[in-house]
Amino acid sequence: MKAIIATDHTAEAAGLTLAELPEPEPAINDVVVEVHASGFVPAEWEWPSTWVDRAGHDRTSAVIGHEFAGVVSGLGYGTTGLSLGQRVFGITDWHRDGTLAEYTAVESRNLAPLPGDMDFVAGASLPISGLTAWQGLLQHGHLRSGQTVIAHGAAGAVGSAVTQLAREFGAYVIGTGRATDRQAALDFGANEFLDLGSDDLKDVGQVDLVFDVIGGDVQAQSADVIRAGGTLVTIVGPTEHRPENGRTIDFVVESDRAQLAEIAQRARDGRLRTNIGTVSTLDDALAALNPTQRHKGKTIITMRS
Ligand SMILES: NC(=O)c1ccc[n+]([C@@H]2O[C@H](COP(=O)([O-])OP(=O)(O)OC[C@H]3O[C@@H](n4cnc5c(N)ncnc54)[C@H](OP(=O)(O)O)[C@@H]3O)[C@@H](O)[C@H]2O)c1
Repeated sequence: MKAIIATDHTAEAAGLTLAELPEPEPAINDVVVEVHASGFVPAEWEWPSTWVDRAGHDRTSAVIGHEFAGVVSGLGYGTTGLSLGQRVFGITDWHRDGTLAEYTAVESRNLAPLPGDMDFVAGASLPISGLTAWQGLLQHGHLRSGQTVIAHGAAGAVGSAVTQLAREFGAYVIGTGRATDRQAALDFGANEFLDLGSDDLKDVGQVDLVFDVIGGDVQAQSADVIRAGGTLVTIVGPTEHRPENGRTIDFVVESDRAQLAEIAQRARDGRLRTNIGTVSTLDDALAALNPTQRHKGKTIITMRS
């Protein structure tokens, strides 16, 4: 099968290669899925799991991409809950070969049925950004209606989902980003927009929850605007800056079948708009994954026409 592998830690996207690999075998409780479309997070080369497995062994030449939609084509011993021919979507284990491939092996519990009226491209664009937003706001951030939320990077993949879900759950949302992101952030539902390049975060006053997708100085300034009892949620590594009288949580998204169903239902009924930038085929994936210009929104690679 064809697959995109990462070969050089320092080369980032320039080190990706289109390779020919054996099709994966399903292990216990796995399904093998014929991948139809795969998403991708442009920071995957920074993740330790791209280069080393859980036992610390080298993973150079691993298949990258970890969110996808496709059709179940094989069942491992003991697998329950999904059947051959079923349309599915979800997130694969960070430490195993991923989804920028014609086939992937994944534990069945990490997938959910893909509704019949949702196409594979939309299905592949939702799992990581949708579940990250859901878990950060509701599970870890304990968001309540009436609270004020800063959604950093509100025109980006995760930030746009954070903005939409926070609004749905009754929050007042201050979206942030670059000056050029203003309209997109407002279109995703932000009540107001703050340009991180020219506005001062202090001017927003006190907020209940900050959803940080940027880190560094932005995280430091964010910690200072969190009111007593509020929460800083960050997804870009261990928390570096803590609010004086609040709590912080850093986390890595986990797949969850029930939450995937919640996300899919919202995408179907219009409450959650996907944020897709570029759609490309597997044969053209290297150029799409290593663009000469920065594209907004998710890059989705399709494996089958
Ligand atoms: N822990 C987890 O489970 C988890 C899950 C998903 C993603 N992540 C991480 O979260 C981060 C965001 O992911 P994503 O997929 O949402 O990326 P994305 O689509 O590129 O979104 C990030 C947004 O933030 C903006 N931004 C970044 N730095 C900025 C700055 N200094 N000032 C103003 N705007 C800035 C970006 O603008 P530009 O495009 O112009 O830079 C972009 O609009 C990545 O580092 C990713 O690895 C972690």
